[in-house]
This record gives sequence, C-alpha cells and structure tokens, in this order.
Amino acid sequence: MSTMFQKFLGCPVAFLLKIGNCFYKHKNFFLAILIYKIILLLDSHHFAARANLATAYFEKGNLSTSIPYFLSVLGDDYNNAWWHNYLSQAYQKNGHYDKALNEAWQAVDLSGGAQAHQLNLAYTIYEVSDEKGLDFIKQVLTKWYRKYPQSGIAQQCYRSFFYDKNFTRSNQDYVESLFDVFAPDFETVLNDLNYQSPQDIANILFEYCSSHKRLSDLKVLDLGCGSGLCGKYLAKKFSSCEIVGVDISSAMLSVAASKKIYKELIKDDIEHYLLHEKRKFDIVVAADVLTYFGTLDSLFAGIEKVLDDKGVFAFSFSKNEFNAKEFFLTPSSRFVHSFHYVQNMLSKHGLKLLLSNPKTLRKEGDKDVIGYIVAAIKS
Ligand SMILES: C[S@@+](CC[C@H](N)C(=O)[O-])C[C@H]1O[C@@H](n2cnc3c(N)ncnc32)[C@H](O)[C@@H]1O
Repeated sequence: MSTMFQKFLGCPVAFLLKIGNCFYKHKNFFLAILIYKIILLLDSHHFAARANLATAYFEKGNLSTSIPYFLSVLGDDYNNAWWHNYLSQAYQKNGHYDKALNEAWQAVDLSGGAQAHQLNLAYTIYEVSDEKGLDFIKQVLTKWYRKYPQSGIAQQCYRSFFYDKNFTRSNQDYVESLFDVFAPDFETVLNDLNYQSPQDIANILFEYCSSHKRLSDLKVLDLGCGSGLCGKYLAKKFSSCEIVGVDISSAMLSVAASKKIYKELIKDDIEHYLLHEKRKFDIVVAADVLTYFGTLDSLFAGIEKVLDDKGVFAFSFSKNEFNAKEFFLTPSSRFVHSFHYVQNMLSKHGLKLLLSNPKTLRKEGDKDVIGYIVAAIKS
C-alpha cells in the first residue's frame, strides 16, 4: 500500500485529479476521496480537490465531514449558490437549523431565485419546522413570499402553510421543479416508502378487463405518468396496448422514455392537455396524481371527455383525515380528499364507482399515508 501511495505522490496533480474524478463519476466515493486527499497532501490549496472532496463526502453520506470542506471552498468561491445549497443540507441533517436556513437563503439570493435553490429552501423550512416552531416558520415564509412573489415554489409553500382556501391546485412551476430535481432518485425513494399504487392499479384493471374480456388493443392514457411505473405494470398485464403518458416534468418523462413502453410521451399540464386532447381512450390512470389537485371538477370533466363509453378510470387518492373539508392542502404541500367529495365528483362527471379499496398508499416520513385505490366506469 505504501509503495502505491508513493507512486501516487509522484504523479502530476492534474493526472491524479482525473483519476479521482473518474472514481467520483462511477460513485466510488471511497477511492475518489483517497485521491483528492493525496492531491491535498501535494497542494493543500488545490481548489478542485477541496471542492470535489466536499461533494464526495456529501454524496457518500458523511455530511458532517463535508462541512469544513464546503466552508473552505466558500472562502474562495463565495458567490456560487451551489456551495451554500450543499452546506445548508449538511447543516440541516446535523441539527444546525439556523445555519441551514441561512445557507439556503444565501443560495436563493445568490442565484437570483433559481428554482433548484428555492426548492431546497422549501425542504429546509419543512424539515426544521418542528424544531423552530410555527411563529418562526411563519416569519420565514412571509419574508420569502414577499421577496419572491412570482416564485411558484414560494407561493405553494406560503399558501399551504397558511391554509389558503383559494388555493385549489398545485402550482405548475412547483410541481415541475420538484419532479425535475426528484426524477433520478424517484423510483428508489418511492420503493423505500413502500409505494405500490401502480401495481395495485394495474391489478384491478386487469381483473376488471379479464372479466369483461377486454385484454388486448386497449388505448391507455397515463396522467402524471412520471417515470413510467404505471406504464411498466400495465404493459406487462395487457398485450399490445398503446400507452400515452402525460407529465409536466421533462426529467420524469425522460426516465419514462427510457422504459420504451409508451407510444407517446407528452410534456404538458394535465388539465391543459385534457382540454385540448381529441382522442378517446379505453383506460385512464392517475397514480398519486390527485394529490397535486384540490378541486377535482375540471380534472374529472377532462377525464370524462377523453374516456370512451364504458372506458375505465383507475386512480389513487389520499384520504383527508385532518378535518371535514372536501379537500385540504397539508403542510407538506399535498392535497388530500374526502371520500364523499371524490364520489360526488365522479358521479357529477358520469363516472360510476366500480370499486374503492382502502389502502396504505405509502409512507411520508414515519407516518402511513392512508387512501384508496379506485376504479370507475364511464356510464
Ligand atoms: C408522485 S408522481 C407519480 C408518478 C406516477 N404516476 C407513479 O405512480 O409512479 C406524480 C407525477 O405527476 C406529475 N404531475 C403532477 N401534477 C401535474 C400536472 N398538473 N400536470 C402534469 N403532470 C403533473 C408530476 O410531475 C409527477 O411526475
């Protein structure tokens, strides 16, 4: 080992950096960190080695170790919002809530309000809310919303925290940037949260369609298709079905495209898309999508419009266990609905309830999200 070490010490720094970055790229953070440390033995001020060492520790999950390196990098590159963003996350995970918020703010301001940094501020506020208390969070949200009134993310957080009853669906910019950032990890994270709605929806559709002998050549519309989980399970169950996916997040759509199961993937807001779509579908699915809509009137009207006669709409929704309202925007910025409201909206739009299975849909933090898997037929 010591001879290997000596050999490394004899290498030019630029060459070592390339090797370190190669290990980093392949997520071998252990070896990347080793190489960056060797570089710092040769040149203790080497900027790229310090910066990459900080992010390598961060990505490896050693957040507290990453903090002094981020601080050292900020000494040379203070105006780069990303160092503040990383640092805020590292502070937050280590219980330094004031510092976390301060760094998240810096990132937002230095980037001129860029979406990724606003989103990090939203997460930070949400994560520190229990510890910092409601009054403090109110002040932060008010300051944020006043300073960035055009930001969809600030609007979403402010209005959900203050229970704004006129806020009836999620902000498009908020949803788009949330899922653009989330896309690379979406399936791993949802798997860890025991999310099974796509399988459940595919199963109930298969049972229903089998008993009605309608198993092939179906035209399917996957609303809020995300990374393509519904498409994946539906394509397994139904031979030669044509699936069209719609989503607002281009990053989620590119994950869906890589599955090669969709006939067409459309980047659009669901309500806008439904308003303009002229084709008819045998099946419409929406898994974990109603949670971005409060009122369901125009959404269900659009679904009624694109469903063929006897077409089936299958979806999941989270149950409003918080109060007696028809729908409610929770502090985590997700809408929950009462069963009665969903039922009323279905019948208002010519959709007859076929089945509704109560279900734990997934975890949120350490809590269960209770909801339903529903199927309705256009009658
Ligand atoms: C929680 S993910 C679920 C994805 C997929 N249905 C699944 O079950 O794996 C919600 C998806 O709905 C999309 N979405 C939410 N609101 C939307 C809207 N108004 N228009 C288009 N897509 C939307 C998001 O971009 C995201 O990809």
